[in-house]
Amino acid sequence: MSKELFFPVVETERLALRPIAIEDADSLLGISSDPEVMRYWNTAPWETIQDAIDFINASNDAMRRQTSLVLGVYLKSTGELAGKCMLFSYDKESRRAEIGFGLGRSAWGRGYIGEAGEALIQYGFNSLGLRRIEAEIDPDNQSSAKALERLGFSREGLLRQRWEVNGIVSDSAMYGRLASDPSAMAS
Ligand SMILES: CC(C)(COP(=O)(O)OP(=O)(O)OC[C@H]1O[C@@H](n2cnc3c(N)ncnc32)[C@H](O)[C@@H]1OP(=O)(O)O)[C@@H](O)C(=O)NCCC(=O)NCCS
Repeated sequence: MSKELFFPVVETERLALRPIAIEDADSLLGISSDPEVMRYWNTAPWETIQDAIDFINASNDAMRRQTSLVLGVYLKSTGELAGKCMLFSYDKESRRAEIGFGLGRSAWGRGYIGEAGEALIQYGFNSLGLRRIEAEIDPDNQSSAKALERLGFSREGLLRQRWEVNGIVSDSAMYGRLASDPSAMAS
């Protein structure tokens, strides 16, 4: 696969999805140090700028190895970093990957994930040749569940006591969308 496939710029009406620039480490820390944003994430809120730098470097390494696609969600109107979205756990042979999203609190509720998510999903199906995209969320994360259902995902099961983060045990709800599924419903 060509190198550029894992370093794309994907544009939607309001957003540009592209690899996160190291200059945006501060903005990324602002987003990922917010306990509300990280409430259902599988890591604790970040604390230092090094956490953001490490994430950006690890993302670039994973994209070079073609194991993950980790993209910043940038607002086209201001150039501001609103959050991140990713395709990870890429299994080339099975043509499957997992999707994840995290937006800063000020960007919630504007349908950005509908827009960014659909663009990322289409990129996964059409450019990476994926057959299946899956998502794993905390069953209490209703915002994520709604966003996934609007993106055309079906809930496929519940994995009990799958995570323990900071001593708190939680279940995972599993969602999936196939390239052959009907596309997302309008919200
Ligand atoms: C989950 C998330 C990605 C959804 O993205 P989004 O662009 O806000 O999605 P939408 O605009 O379609 O809103 C989806 C739902 O989020 C909830 N929501 C939206 N704005 C909200 C706000 N300001 N406060 C609380 N909930 C809100 C609503 O339930 C909304 O559904 P509704 O429109 O029927 O009321 C985003 O809220 C987020 O990044 N949350 C924190 C990180 C996270 O939990 N990521 C998922 C872990 S895998």
